[in-house]
This record gives sequence, C-alpha cells and structure tokens, in this order.
Amino acid sequence: MKVTLRAEKRTPQPKITNAQMLERYQQVFTPAYDHSTSIAAARALGNRVWDVEGKEYLDLASGIAVNNLGHNYPRVVAAIQEQLASGIHFGPSVMLYEANIRLAEKLGEITPLGIDMFFFSNSGAEAVEGAVKLARYVTGRPLVIAYRGGFHGRTLGALSLTSSKAKFRRHLEPLLGGVRFVNYPYYYRSPCGQKDPESCALGCLADLARAFEHDTPPDEVAAVLIEPVLGEGGYVVPPKRYLEGLRELTAQHGILLIFDEVQTGFGRTGDYFAAQRFGVTPDIMVLAKGIANGLPLSAVASSKDLMSRWPAGAHGTTFGGNPLSCAAGIATISVLQEENLCRRAGDLGEYFLGGLKELQKKHPAMGDVRGLGLMIGAEFVDRQGQPNGELVKQIRQYCLERGLILLACGSHYEVIRFIAPLTIAQEDLDFVLGLLDEALTALA
Ligand SMILES: Cc1ncc(COP(=O)(O)O)c(C=O)c1O
Repeated sequence: MKVTLRAEKRTPQPKITNAQMLERYQQVFTPAYDHSTSIAAARALGNRVWDVEGKEYLDLASGIAVNNLGHNYPRVVAAIQEQLASGIHFGPSVMLYEANIRLAEKLGEITPLGIDMFFFSNSGAEAVEGAVKLARYVTGRPLVIAYRGGFHGRTLGALSLTSSKAKFRRHLEPLLGGVRFVNYPYYYRSPCGQKDPESCALGCLADLARAFEHDTPPDEVAAVLIEPVLGEGGYVVPPKRYLEGLRELTAQHGILLIFDEVQTGFGRTGDYFAAQRFGVTPDIMVLAKGIANGLPLSAVASSKDLMSRWPAGAHGTTFGGNPLSCAAGIATISVLQEENLCRRAGDLGEYFLGGLKELQKKHPAMGDVRGLGLMIGAEFVDRQGQPNGELVKQIRQYCLERGLILLACGSHYEVIRFIAPLTIAQEDLDFVLGLLDEALTALA
C-alpha cells in the first residue's frame, strides 16, 4: 500500500518555483551553509510546511528541535504580537522590563531545584560559551572536559568544545586552549569495547578517572560539559549510571558539571529537561532552541550561589533576552505546563520507538533504534554493521519526495533523527512509520 499525506494541497500556478529560489539563493549566500533540503518554504502551521509551489510536508525537523509546540503556535504568536505593541528592544543592560523578569521566573518553575538564576543570550553557542566563562570564573581553573562526538555550536569558543564531525574544525586550529575530550558512553559502538549499557557506563567512567590520573589534573578542571543525550553526534542516550557516576566524580573533585540542554530541553525528552528525566542535577545548564518556540533566545542557568559570584561586567549582551523572544518564551513554557506536553512527549515517544523496534525486526539495515521522549534516532548499517550514511540519504530523499522532512545526524550521517513537535498527532507518527517501512522495502 502506498502511503500518502492526507490533505495534500497544491496551488495551481506557482509564482515562483523551488528551483528559482535556489538559484537566487546560490547567488547571494556562501555555500558554507550545509542544506538538508532545498525546499523553499512559503508558510508553516503546526507540524506542516508548504513550499512555494504549494506542496505540503509533514515536518519532523522542527527547525532542528526549535518548534517544540509546532510552527506558529497561536498562543505564542499572540504573545509576540502583544509585546510588539509595547516595545521591541529596551536593552537588558540598559533597562528592566517585565517580559525579561517574568521569563526568568517562569524558567525557575521548570528547571531542577536549585537552578534558579539566569543569563539570557541569543544562540546556543553563545550560551555554551557563557556557561564555560562562568565555570572558569568561579572556579579559577583553566581546563574544560568535553565529549568526543559532542556538538555545542559553531563560534570559535563553542567549536573548540565540539567534535561531532572533524570537518567542522578543519582549517580552524588553533582553537580555544584547555579543552580535553573523553569518550561518550555510546554503547552501540562502545568506545571501551563493552556493549551492554552498564559496563559501557563503568568503562567510560574509568576512562575519565584515568584522564584525571595521567593527563588532566582534576584540580585544574573548571567543568565537564556534556549533552545529556547526544544530539548532532547521533541521538545517543547515555546509560543513567554514567550520568550518576559523572555527577559523583565531578562533585568529588570540585568540578562543575554543565549540561548542554540546548537540544534536549523544553519537553523534548519527556520531562522539562533531560536532567529531570535522568534524576541528575548539574551545576550549570545551557538552554536554547525550544525555549521560545522559534524566536532566538538562549540562557545560562545555575544556582544563586554560583551566579552571585559572577560580578557586574564579567559577561554581557546587547540583544540577549529580547522582549519579543521573552514573551514567546513565557507563552511556550505556559503551554508546556498547561497542556501537559512533557507527559505527551514521553507517551508518544514510547509509542513511536515501539513502532521503530517493530520495523527493526523486519529491516536489518536498522542497526539500532533509541531515544528518550520525542528525541528519537535510528542508526542505519551496511551488511558489515558499518555506518550507512548513503542509505540514510536515500531514505530521506524517498520520504521527502512523498512529503516528509527528516534530518540526519551522526559522524557519517548514519542516523535519522525524528524531531516531531510535542503536539504531533499519533496518526502522523503512524504515517512516518508506514513511509519508512515502504522506503526500506524499496531501498535496503
Ligand atoms: C546540543 C547543542 N548545543 C549547542 C548548539 C548550538 O546552538 P546554536 O546553533 O543556537 O548556536 C546546538 C545546535 O544544534 C546543539 O544541538
């Protein structure tokens, strides 16, 4: 049975085509942008996007985990419009304003206990750098430990902590000094040879302890920076045991634990943050992406104790905490709370993961399926079990032609990441499962 999107709409006579838009685009933009589709978007609503030719798509990219409520969520749009009428930019270091303060108060309602003071900036990378600045400042220590496979952004500081793909760093050395990489507990391709989660967790903790003994004096380490679920690096869920052990080890050495929750935050993993999902509270959190459901905003979040040791002028911003973004953020959090969307993400995530596991029994090319809440990945392999980025490319193209937008991740683009909005209907997830089955039957 062929799977098609319901209610597909096409405008009869497009004014401009996708190809024409691409042609114009290529005249004025650097090819450094790595495009995952060449859809020229005309408009979007909920989990649907329409291109300039009128073709409708189900969007499982969500602007790379930004539109957690779906596109143009009415209450968020209304909040932005209301704020627009009373002020677009005041400057957070020039004046105080309600949207700014209210958003920080709202964030405090959903962050783990004790994480209750904030610094707002614009992008994930900026907030990552803010978090590292805070950690270095308050500890007076120079080193930062990050993870092989991690992604924290593209600015030089954040890039120095990023290692999901070597091409991101090529020709850019020397990067920020004092960064050490250790192994992420990616048990499907275990860096320590142990494939079961518990042994892999212990193996990777031992690896970190060895670094402390041999090359990275722990009393010189300001922070360990980790994504509590690996995003760009392959949608890898670490064993809970690893994060618990990491919490113990860092506390033992007076090292600050930073969770980069840029991609895992705002309901994505089935709780407000992955920290709560795992029951592990870091010292500092980095928030962005889903925070304002589409407007640019990010935050460094920590305890009053740590934040109060960061004196006036130690950090700053012109646009961070822009009133429109803050208004969108307040509305976004209210919707997450009132519509019980974390629970929904958890339930739908389990349902979808179950569906993928069924498909895996039928299609050996699906090497691993994994996820937490609606942060779900499927890793594809060739007959030797090696990463199969080529197959992922073909599957994504097959699905795109039939109206489904999917993104890849992983160091060889071997993982399809399913980033559904938390508001998605179960029948849309069924459509995705049906189309994947069809694609794999046709291609693998
Ligand atoms: C975990 C994580 N941290 C940081 C970033 C960087 O965020 P931005 O692109 O907003 O700078 C990203 C972006 O994908 C991310 O996934």
